[in-house]
Amino acid sequence: MKQVARQARAEGRPTGFVPTMGALHAGHLLLVRAALAECHPVIASIFVNPTQFGPSEDFQKYPRTLEADSRKLADAGVDYLFAPDPAEIYPPGFSTWVNVEGLSERLEGRARRGHFRGVTTVVLKLLEIVQPAKAFFGRKDAQQARIIRKMARDLHLDSEIVVCPIVREPDGLAMSSRNAYLSPEERRAATILFRVLDGARASIARGERDALRLTAAMRETLRTEPLAEPEYVELVDAETLEPVTRLRGECLALLAVRIGGVRLIDNLLIEQREGEFQTTL
Ligand code: PAJ
Repeated sequence: MKQVARQARAEGRPTGFVPTMGALHAGHLLLVRAALAECHPVIASIFVNPTQFGPSEDFQKYPRTLEADSRKLADAGVDYLFAPDPAEIYPPGFSTWVNVEGLSERLEGRARRGHFRGVTTVVLKLLEIVQPAKAFFGRKDAQQARIIRKMARDLHLDSEIVVCPIVREPDGLAMSSRNAYLSPEERRAATILFRVLDGARASIARGERDALRLTAAMRETLRTEPLAEPEYVELVDAETLEPVTRLRGECLALLAVRIGGVRLIDNLLIEQREGEFQTTL
């Protein structure tokens, strides 16, 4: 992989990189298309990264569908698939970690201790190996994208971090490899995340600017779904991820919910442009 990457760089070609954990869906393929539109060659990686899973999380049962994934990437026009072995990425005695302090401790980081340390460590390793001009991430994991951007800036990385929109199922559920864990009943209940965010979007369109009232209404909507156990519902500044009291600049409404045993996250982007608030689901 390093040899291929070095060659592309030597030829002055801008490599595009799409890191994933596989079980590919239309969300991943949107990142691939964005990369293909701007870069050549395009490299995708599939690596179920053990260090970003907690001891009681789903590392063992995480869906592994390498053959089908590999076909999807080839059909989409990806030039290289990098699917390293865990022992290559974490050789015996491995002890170097990257941690973006502050941003990694909030929201997802509070619920999943050590998760972002695993993400930033593996993403830095992958970026070092692939040396892409641009690396593509999804806003589905808005906090992850924010943390990776911060890491890239803090560590003077050459790669530009590009964040792409959320791809959703027709009923609004954000696509996720973990949706496969949902029973039919849980799958129906899972649309509550979208409905909560869509409700917030409608309130903002009607002129609501108060963060406490918005999050209170979101929690109330969430309570209408008996299968949903809320983990957090927050309205934060998109840069600092700190809670806001009133909408201002760029904000994110974020939520994490358990449906059955499955943990799902989603978010709404709220941007102030010339006094107007634009929302993107
Ligand atoms: P994974 O969950 O496989 O996601 C890979 C990329 O696809 C991430 O950037 C994620 O935000 C994006 N993605 C997932 N669902 C999406 C959707 N519905 N719409 C748009 N983009 C979506 O995120 C990871 O893997 C890992 O943490 C990784 C960055 C690969 C590090 O191990």
